[in-house]
Amino acid sequence: MAFTAEHSLRCRKDFPALTRHLPGPKLAYLDGPGGSQVPRAVIDTIADFYQTCNVNTHGQFAPSQEVDRRMAAARAAVADFLGAEDSSCISFGQNMTTLNYALSGAIARTLQHGDEVVITQLDHEANRGPWLRLKDQGVLIQEVRLMQSGRLDESDLAAKITPRTKLVALGAASNALGTVNDIALARRLTRAVGALLVIDAVHYAPHFPLDVKTLGMDFLLCSGYKFYGPHVGVLYSRPGALDRLPTDRLSVQDPAAPYRIETGTLNHAAIDGLRAAVEYLAGWGSGASLRDRIVDAMSGISAHEHELAKFYHDSVRSIRGVRVWGPDFSGRARAPTVSITLENATAAEAAAALGKQGICVWDGHFYAARAVQVLGLTERGGLLRTGISMYSTRDDLQRLLAGIERFTLDLP
Ligand SMILES: Cc1ncc(COP(=O)(O)O)c(C=O)c1O
Repeated sequence: MAFTAEHSLRCRKDFPALTRHLPGPKLAYLDGPGGSQVPRAVIDTIADFYQTCNVNTHGQFAPSQEVDRRMAAARAAVADFLGAEDSSCISFGQNMTTLNYALSGAIARTLQHGDEVVITQLDHEANRGPWLRLKDQGVLIQEVRLMQSGRLDESDLAAKITPRTKLVALGAASNALGTVNDIALARRLTRAVGALLVIDAVHYAPHFPLDVKTLGMDFLLCSGYKFYGPHVGVLYSRPGALDRLPTDRLSVQDPAAPYRIETGTLNHAAIDGLRAAVEYLAGWGSGASLRDRIVDAMSGISAHEHELAKFYHDSVRSIRGVRVWGPDFSGRARAPTVSITLENATAAEAAAALGKQGICVWDGHFYAARAVQVLGLTERGGLLRTGISMYSTRDDLQRLLAGIERFTLDLP
């Protein structure tokens, strides 16, 4: 089922934040890479949780059994969202960063002095910092080069993965430049040397269908608030991969996957809301199973977002005094996130002026600080980033383009 511009306009009615009438200019939320809005179904689910079963899990009474049922349903829905083998592959946590720290801390206990871990210059700090700290225990960190084109140097990736490599940490898509990395290549290279692959899919998950089983992932992380859900981190672990890891956990905690890495009481209401977000997305697709509907919906949303992002990319590129960073839309898969710099304004100045016009875009490095540094943009205040979501419209982008053009009027 195609997700058309008409579907996109229709879906806006499901998001209370998009239908609010406020004094001042209408808000254009083009900040999806920082976090998306949530549909009413998610808000209602969370409210319903607090009204009906705000108790802890594993009790001998009805509301607790209801929480157990909802948590199982959430794991099953997220397993379908990612294409996982089953719900025992899905662990929840506070956010992606916290889960990745827990994962890296556990894996660190299995590494020895002289082992190597490969990270990239393109990744968000959340998939660099947790691995960089392993330097303290004598692990050698190799960093794959980012090229000025906004793509990783794949020959450098291949060269840095050697028999000494124990793990590769790689982003599926860049939240700063929209680059989509070649995960299949990374999987082939890591398999050849028996290294683990940890994929940060936080920016990828809102824009493309995922299929962790086919990709042969070991670990993959994403974050609910980027795909129309609440703030919940998700860790996928290949069957058996988590069971062997010496995670931080209490002696009384269930040592089996997926619980092995889940410390303390989870945010049950938010996890229930995450299930509602997945089901909301699936509602835009067709097919016999939830998984079929998710894949169909995400494929349609992906194509629609791609078209809008290409329109913005091609239009903004032709404005005098604008430089677009990152790959263009002609070749490989590309996330619908476009970052620019302006000749006569910093990204912060532009974002502030646009913010006054109700246009929500981000400026800076968005925690992809290493990438911004390698591109030589740190001193200039980084990038002005526009993100397309399922509810973004051409009108939002035209207002943004007009706002950007105003900056260039006094250029010689
Ligand atoms: C690509 C990417 N990875 C990781 C993160 C961190 O996610 P979380 O906020 O869930 O820790 C973000 C957040 O912006 C991101 O964009």
